[in-house]
Amino acid sequence: MLNIAEIRKDFPILSRTVYGKPLVYLDNAATTQKPRCVVEKIEEMYYNLNANVHRGVHFLSQEATNAHEAARVTVQKFIGAKSSSEIVFTHGTTESINLVASSFCRAFCREGDEILITAMEHHSNIVPWQLQGDIKGVKLQVVPINENGELCLDELEKKISPCTKLIAVTHISNVLGTINPIEKITEIAHKHNIPILIDAAQSIPHLPIDVQKIDCDFLVFSSHKMYGPTGIGVLYGKEKWLDALPPYQGGGEMIASVTFERTTYSEIPFKFEAGTPDFVGSAALATALDYISEIGLKNISRYEHELLKYATQQLQTIKGLHIIGNATNKSSVISFLVDGIHPYDMGMLLDKMGIAVRTGHHCAEPLMNELGIPGTVRASLAFYNTHEEIDALIKGIERIITMF
Ligand code: ALA
Repeated sequence: MLNIAEIRKDFPILSRTVYGKPLVYLDNAATTQKPRCVVEKIEEMYYNLNANVHRGVHFLSQEATNAHEAARVTVQKFIGAKSSSEIVFTHGTTESINLVASSFCRAFCREGDEILITAMEHHSNIVPWQLQGDIKGVKLQVVPINENGELCLDELEKKISPCTKLIAVTHISNVLGTINPIEKITEIAHKHNIPILIDAAQSIPHLPIDVQKIDCDFLVFSSHKMYGPTGIGVLYGKEKWLDALPPYQGGGEMIASVTFERTTYSEIPFKFEAGTPDFVGSAALATALDYISEIGLKNISRYEHELLKYATQQLQTIKGLHIIGNATNKSSVISFLVDGIHPYDMGMLLDKMGIAVRTGHHCAEPLMNELGIPGTVRASLAFYNTHEEIDALIKGIERIITMF
């Protein structure tokens, strides 16, 4: 049993008010709030350990380097990677996918090759591949979803062709909450000798992840969606793939030696970390991971599932409200529409009651087109949310319906 009242005390922002009302923060799929220990870590890094990493012989630089590299090991252990050299620090999920798209397509793709994605991808797992389409001529193939918002797995296998060079799939849809069977999809990919990239941005704060068990080739996520600071994220890649990929950006840190004629590159992961890395962010991310680990992802997952069940049941009692995304295996993201009320109006009016939800296409326009809707209202839950906050949401929606 999680002591939510105690946990909430770790997040000072949760006790603030907006428009004179207690904040009900239900926009966790967009970004999560930060516990005090993460904010304090950032302060500690700037007050006591601020020096550039990997470069200086001096004491401070070595302490900062140690903190940065210790953070890499914390991430490695958190996702069960074989080696810390398989952990590349990036700016976030988006940069991680752009890195793989750019380096992978440069090395392994030519005109007409295909990248297989799904209909429920975020723009960040669509556009980076389209950019490579402009440069290398690669094309997207898209696996459809069924009426519950689940992936059509049999279609996935049918879409694989000799031109398929990589499968890139989200673990959890940021709109539908669908949890995709990534181990099964990885098995299918590998049966056809195709590498797979998993977008874990929406899953890593909610479910235990073990990259060796999944056996995925790449896995990407952002710190800010898992209680860590903004501006840093992770690319996990199997050593054999990171070794095989060319660098993404050039600059300091990523080289072995430079002459005007020729440059050789550093070993992984440094080959992919051009410039001064975000050593403050990495240390604070590690603090967030320690914080989550102490609460326990299994406990988090169990509690959030209970909240999801409660919220779903309560929302279903509202006449004219339709939940978008009814997968059997679902995470704590609930998109919905209410007859006769535009999602934007619903979001604006809920906001005035202190309730923060997201509205719109959620950076998944192609999915909205598939569903034939312009957007949704989305409530996304975290382990610091409470049943009372769900009640406030329900009351808020009911009040807005009477206003219309
Ligand atoms: N990808 C984030 C979301 O779904 C921003 O809200």
